[in-house]
Amino acid sequence: MSECPVAASSEATCTAAALLYPRLRLDKRLSLKEKALAFFDLLALQQDGPGVSSARREEVLRDVARHRFYEHTPEELLWGCRFAWRHSVRCVGRFFWKQLEIRDARTISTLEEVAEFCGAHVREATNGGAIRPLVTVFPAQRGPQGWRIWNHQLVRYAGYRAEDGDVLGDPAEAHLTEVSLGLGWKPPARRGRFDVLPLVLSAPKGAPQLFELCQKDVLEVSLEHPDYMWFGEMGLRWYAVPIVSSMRLEIGGIRYSAAPFNGWYMGTEIGARNLADLGRYDMLPEIAQRMGILERREASLWRDRALVELNRAVLYSYRKAGVRMVDHHTAAQLHVRFEEEEAAAGRPVTGRWEWLVPPISGATTPLWQRSYDPSEYSPNFVYQRPAWEAS
Ligand code: ARG
Repeated sequence: MSECPVAASSEATCTAAALLYPRLRLDKRLSLKEKALAFFDLLALQQDGPGVSSARREEVLRDVARHRFYEHTPEELLWGCRFAWRHSVRCVGRFFWKQLEIRDARTISTLEEVAEFCGAHVREATNGGAIRPLVTVFPAQRGPQGWRIWNHQLVRYAGYRAEDGDVLGDPAEAHLTEVSLGLGWKPPARRGRFDVLPLVLSAPKGAPQLFELCQKDVLEVSLEHPDYMWFGEMGLRWYAVPIVSSMRLEIGGIRYSAAPFNGWYMGTEIGARNLADLGRYDMLPEIAQRMGILERREASLWRDRALVELNRAVLYSYRKAGVRMVDHHTAAQLHVRFEEEEAAAGRPVTGRWEWLVPPISGATTPLWQRSYDPSEYSPNFVYQRPAWEAS
């Protein structure tokens, strides 16, 4: 248990948390020593966490002074990842932050091993549809470059750009698709709108290499609609698990440049953005056309009507396929409970309103009339320069 003398009383823990958080701001000017000490104070406050002995603190301080580096124990890493999720101001799913599990991949030394761990992450997170929140942590970055996964997510669909600028597939992936083709990727003989991209991986030194995920590891859901028989004819599908792989995990001043993580989908991410955005799959005109409501007059609200039906199809299809997914109303309610728990623990309640409020029916959720403090604290997942710019 923690040696922090205040950890015994929750009121005192609350006060301690309030005092600690200013030291956890994501701030480039803080030294590694300051960041490490603040992280261990945070860990010591976690009553169901591993605690921090004074011997451990001394050891870390010694390593920081000597090597400008220290190594997290598996338990420190696990809780560091959970805190990183808890602090993610864009995430509406944080209620489940303590359920995050980890795969420790810090001992790898080759890209083949990175690819293997990525495949295992996809399998274990998918779990036959009973999706598990999971993070895989690769070795920390110690020099100018770290291990990198160039893909934005482990599973993502190619976007093939034609001469005229049109994209077949996901326009958001047009660049990575070009990179992959340039590295020698062989796409399916008949290119489609939903071709899973290969992994593009790089070591701290050296050129990127391509690896394919096993097809059978990638669970996908074909979309159908509960009332419209024709919906399935459009051939729409999406993958089961969003595994963000481009962000950097930061814990106590240590930077993990490759640390793919996942939760499960909220329906609107697919139904109101990926398949609906003008700059993505842009499916609303075709859906409205098939519904027989497409017209020039915006005031008919054909877009809105098509959007709701697309979202119904997404939620219906994932449920039918036994793939875990949350709707935006339930997710918003759970976020409110998360906010209440954070406040009760004396921690700052943070968030980015424009990310938390869902892209449809925002004002029907309890998040709409709340306001949020967008401050970001460590540990956290942060954006980093795209791998193709860093190399
Ligand atoms: N919005 C992204 C997508 O549609 C995924 C981001 C992470 N989402 C999540 N539910 N954990 O692919």
